[in-house]
Amino acid sequence: MREGTLFEITKEHLETGMRGFPVGYCVTSYVDPYKGLTYVGKPIVEMQNKHPLEVIYLLYHGQPGSKEQVKHFEQELMKRAFCQTETLRHIESLPKSGHPMDAFAAALLIAGLVEGTGDYREDCLDVIAKLPQIAACLMNSLAAWGETPEPNPELGYIENFIHMLQMPGKKTSELVDVMRLFNVLHYDHDGGNLSTFVGKAVASSQEPMWGALAASMTALAGPKHGRANQDCLEFVQNVLQEAGEKASAQDIEKLIRHKLANNQLVFGFGHAVLRVEDPRATIFYEYAKKHFPQHPLVKIALLLRSEGSRVLKENPKISDPYPNVDAISGTVLMAAGFTYPEFFTILFGLSRCVGIAIQIVYERLEARGGKGTPIVRPLYLYKVRK
Ligand code: MLT
Repeated sequence: MREGTLFEITKEHLETGMRGFPVGYCVTSYVDPYKGLTYVGKPIVEMQNKHPLEVIYLLYHGQPGSKEQVKHFEQELMKRAFCQTETLRHIESLPKSGHPMDAFAAALLIAGLVEGTGDYREDCLDVIAKLPQIAACLMNSLAAWGETPEPNPELGYIENFIHMLQMPGKKTSELVDVMRLFNVLHYDHDGGNLSTFVGKAVASSQEPMWGALAASMTALAGPKHGRANQDCLEFVQNVLQEAGEKASAQDIEKLIRHKLANNQLVFGFGHAVLRVEDPRATIFYEYAKKHFPQHPLVKIALLLRSEGSRVLKENPKISDPYPNVDAISGTVLMAAGFTYPEFFTILFGLSRCVGIAIQIVYERLEARGGKGTPIVRPLYLYKVRK
């Protein structure tokens, strides 16, 4: 390869989802196939006990903030946290049919129409600040849980989200705890995951922030991306139903082999980049073992983790036989009392929009010495259809 060449493209690389193609720089995070996710160079495991605002500060500024700086950042976000009534009323009038992720993407477009400033930096901060109210309002309305209260300036970022969510019988402290972790683990996953890539590509036409994020969220809505957290949970629920609460490792192994032999999917394994267990999954498994060891779904998810990997490793064609984050995130949410799987991908989107918005600011305003990256326009070769 010539010096400076990062990647030699051959015809075998075409129509492979651009796996491994270098496209640009990501200033927020990186995913190493063997070490997993880092935020600004720091392994995700070091982030797990941090306050979400500390982590957002790190991703936004590219360096950790002092206590005062993070406090100041939090106050700045709180000032921006209130959506206009017009935004909320339009979100409440969205159709209740279809998947909630489509309504979430529509809610972002509505917010852009009413709240958008056209300035990427301003909109980035507004998105981070206002999304908890937008997501809470949407879920409250779709599930008919009632009116969404205003953000409470006395409460923290995640506490406010849970405060605005009118889910019946919610266990506030358990939900705050689990949502802190869920958010921190989902904020960013380098520049190439589909929703992030799509958001940056759309913004490269100079479409404003909110519209670009709406496109990102339709990308996240697909079952091969964010919607996998809902599908994996449903898989764990089905396995629990089939194998029963008292299932042993042997029972689960047998069940997995049976599914594979019948060409049925075993959900929650494999990743486009990772070649080890997703460290975000490892963190969630530890959390589940510590907080909800007796929960039937947790027991099944843990058995699937070990038996699934063991069985899948026998097939040399499977490049990543390890669990990914979606294998366990939904189970943890259920165990903490968030029992509405149809909303899991909105929770993913609520956190992922943070990383995407920050990456859009970089590409539009900072990349290439401040010129920004040009409009995305890859090359397609012509071929006669057979
Ligand atoms: C993500 O967190 O975005 C998923 O693991 C998918 C990816 O990284 O491509």
